[in-house]
Amino acid sequence: MISFNSEKLIFKLDTPNTSYVFGVEDKDKYLIHYYYGKRISGDDVRFLAVPDERALPSLNKRDKLSFLDCAPYEYPTKGVGDFRTPALSVKNEKGNEAAELFYDSHKIIKGKTVKGKLPGTFGETADVLEVVLKDPVLDLTVILRYGVFNDVDAITRSVIVKNESDKPLTLTRVLSLSLDTDDRDYELITLYGSWARERTIDRKPLRHGHQGVSSMRGITSHQEHPFMALVTPDTTQRTGDVYGFNFVYSGNFDASVYLNQFNFSRVTLGINPEGFEWKLDPGAEFDSQEAVMVFSDEGLGRMTRTFHDLYRNHLIRSPYKNRKRPILINNWEATYFDFNTEKLLSIAKQASKSGIEMLVMDDGWFGNRFDDNRALGDWNVNEEKLPGGLKYLVDEVNKLGLKFGIWMEPEMVSPDSDLYRAHPDWAIQIEGREAGLARNQYVLDLTRSEVLEHTWRSIKAVMDSANIEYVKWDMNRPLADIGSKGLDKEHLGEFYHRYVLAVYELQNRLVTQYPDLLLENCSSGGARFDPGMLYFSPQIWCSDDTDAVERLSIQEGTAIVYPLSSMGAHVSDCPNHVLGRTVPFETRGHIALAGTFGYELDITRIPEEDKNMIPKQVEMYHKYNDLVREGDYFRLASVRENGIYDSWMVVKKDKKECLVTFVGVMNRPNYKPFKIRLEGLIPDKLYKDEDTGKEYYGDILMNAGITINRFHGDARSALIHLKCE
Ligand code: GLA
Repeated sequence: MISFNSEKLIFKLDTPNTSYVFGVEDKDKYLIHYYYGKRISGDDVRFLAVPDERALPSLNKRDKLSFLDCAPYEYPTKGVGDFRTPALSVKNEKGNEAAELFYDSHKIIKGKTVKGKLPGTFGETADVLEVVLKDPVLDLTVILRYGVFNDVDAITRSVIVKNESDKPLTLTRVLSLSLDTDDRDYELITLYGSWARERTIDRKPLRHGHQGVSSMRGITSHQEHPFMALVTPDTTQRTGDVYGFNFVYSGNFDASVYLNQFNFSRVTLGINPEGFEWKLDPGAEFDSQEAVMVFSDEGLGRMTRTFHDLYRNHLIRSPYKNRKRPILINNWEATYFDFNTEKLLSIAKQASKSGIEMLVMDDGWFGNRFDDNRALGDWNVNEEKLPGGLKYLVDEVNKLGLKFGIWMEPEMVSPDSDLYRAHPDWAIQIEGREAGLARNQYVLDLTRSEVLEHTWRSIKAVMDSANIEYVKWDMNRPLADIGSKGLDKEHLGEFYHRYVLAVYELQNRLVTQYPDLLLENCSSGGARFDPGMLYFSPQIWCSDDTDAVERLSIQEGTAIVYPLSSMGAHVSDCPNHVLGRTVPFETRGHIALAGTFGYELDITRIPEEDKNMIPKQVEMYHKYNDLVREGDYFRLASVRENGIYDSWMVVKKDKKECLVTFVGVMNRPNYKPFKIRLEGLIPDKLYKDEDTGKEYYGDILMNAGITINRFHGDARSALIHLKCE
């Protein structure tokens, strides 16, 4: 709910359990932030931010800078005396970099729709506040947009900047969110990693000055992630105050906290200003993309469940979002590049007998792609491997009762490809400098319309050639050597953002033209796992690390923000190809069950014992997927913290059913059973353990816990399914 106190000029944004309050300083028309946190009554909390009227710049011109340097500015600008991190920076024709914004007007809109083709949250249960600010010197209009959800504790922020003058301006920084907090001690949680180790949780106390995470790779990246949370030191899964922030974007980002001289921190989030400039011609406007804020006074768990609900109900659009996904088998770890129709059909045949529902043909089916050194860009079928082409293969797979899915990496070109030989200048490069290769490939300059149109035609030709029901859209290298034949000196700073817009354009065409398609994004594993991508694909490949033990931490870090239904997770072969570790087949199944679930192994060659377990796992998936996909997720224990075991549970929205997963990762001599305290149940209801028939009250399960016997061996797991009437 959004309210405006017209007498005191105060805006109050309420979600079911949180309030966000800011207002217009009467004399100066500055927009000042007052409060964000647990829901409060009333709105007049101006005293929190402006304790002394005399401090206002209009009354005290001599000390205007002292005011600006510590005022909790709602959307801070660069160049006029706020020396902390700015959210906006604008250069005029003469090269001066300064902007100062004053309140002009506002509008409250019922319902939140998505503008154009760009990702964003939406919902009839949300209202939008647009606050119009103006810089009279630049003739610049800045619209602050707040999306306020009435069914989930989330508020979105974005900014539209319009040049109303008759001279061009250059934007050098347009962040989506700035939030000045109070002076409590906070700790900062971020996600870091590498290839095969994505989204590891990192938590450190704030220190004075700048800190944060960012990407300059043109993609979200394995290394850092556009999520951060400020938490009070007492924060656990169940307790503590948590401010969570996430950026709905898939390119360079910057997420920062600046702790100032008075121990107040400023949180900023948006497109990375490094490597960014945007020329704003007279009359033109720029959209910052959307950032999400979530406040929880009940620890990290509550924040997580809020993000999950927001993304499941108000971001993911795919028709699959509320549907069970077909259980797939992917041939990447089974065959790598060494496959043909016969091999794929032998996998499909065995898979169909085991209840698997879709065959996904990964990399290596096109051009002369016999290894990863060639052929990206040549999206015509390799008839040596697949005689009769795609159509024959897909028809045969369909005859076996399986759907068919395909891998593509549309943004790339190999130097050894017909496409590159015909159009060497289509690869991103700086004239006169040899562009660097990564995985022996270049990135196509999708900011050029002829390259984008060609890429779209290639995708479409593949899609139309057979009954393709799933696409794995991969992206296997970062962007570097930024240059473009399509952008002159004045517009080259727009490259990174234009590239992301081009990817969104292509994915939007794909899901619009093929509305029933199941799209899975991927980027060398999980380097583009972000809310921007979720807008197009309901699931994203989480990591190339399919080792089940490593997956515990990767999936824990991913699920801190993203719903389980979006995490691409497969049972793969052992010894694991990344780590050489062997984990029992049953455990691999239990851990993949926490994501989309599927297989990535040569089903014709795995041990008989494992093969025989697949139909049971298929049954398990069908039994539990509705619950896993739609329920509330609770993190119960983390092997990252205790070194021994990991556990999580999913509770049905009506609280009458839950599934607990427990993994004893590292066995230690100890004869007492594990005891795990459950969450989210109805205290006075009697829950029955489906396996043992034993019954327990919800309150005993939550306050004392359930016992789990020690396993013999490492990486052993158990599922506990409880239900009440
Ligand atoms: C990336 C993906 C893998 C696989 C390969 C194919 O690394 O993450 O799953 O598709 O590319 O080259």
